[in-house]
Amino acid sequence: MTNNMFFIANWKMFGDNKSVNSVKKVIKLSKDKKFKKVQIVYCPPYTLLDKFFRLSKNSNVKIGSQNCHYSEKPGPFTGSINANLIKSIGAEYVIIGHSENRFTGDNNNLINSKIKSALNNKLKIIFCIGETLKEKRNKKTNSILNSQIVNGLKNIKKNNNIIFAYEPVWSIGTGLVPKNRDLEKQISVIKKIIMRFWKLKNPKIVYGGSVNIKNINNFKKVSSINGFLIGGASQNTKNFIDIIKKSIN
Ligand code: 13P
Repeated sequence: MTNNMFFIANWKMFGDNKSVNSVKKVIKLSKDKKFKKVQIVYCPPYTLLDKFFRLSKNSNVKIGSQNCHYSEKPGPFTGSINANLIKSIGAEYVIIGHSENRFTGDNNNLINSKIKSALNNKLKIIFCIGETLKEKRNKKTNSILNSQIVNGLKNIKKNNNIIFAYEPVWSIGTGLVPKNRDLEKQISVIKKIIMRFWKLKNPKIVYGGSVNIKNINNFKKVSSINGFLIGGASQNTKNFIDIIKKSIN
């Protein structure tokens, strides 16, 4: 595991005005020489994006949105925010294809449109893929990952602005995690799919699903991953900082 690992905090529908204090502590950590190369990305709810960006402006901490609308142009889409609006407040990243959004209607086609629109707005993408428990039990994991990648990236030219986030759905928020050797195997399958489809040799792949301070020492042994997409544990600043500290030593 290298020093320039990603630690992406997905706060989901949590966080309020008081949460700014958490970010301040992480910004302080990011200025420490030891963590200079670490890539920290905060993805708070939309309501905090601007606030977090202003705080982190002169630091290595980057801001990302948790989703975006597919339409590049403004339009009559009540409750939605598109890539252009996200970019306009200074965010650099957007999470697309999270399973919690796939459950509520984001299919591979829609995800493909969102990725195109985010790339056109010069955002970097955290592209979530992963199988459900049922798919895993039915030995469909590899074909699901293949179809999520191939359809999600349809008609998109090879580029380095997409970070792949492997998040097995059965691991999100459950405390269940893959064994290291199974995770290594899945990462290698994902790399092969990307290589076949895009001829991209070294894609960035992060892991997400129940990462916490107890299991991070074990996860960091998986040398093929480039970092972590962290939900629950990232909402507690001390835990988030400890995860970063334990990963880089
Ligand atoms: P947890 O870390 O809470 O399992 O969530 C993972 C996740 O969904 C990050 O996007």
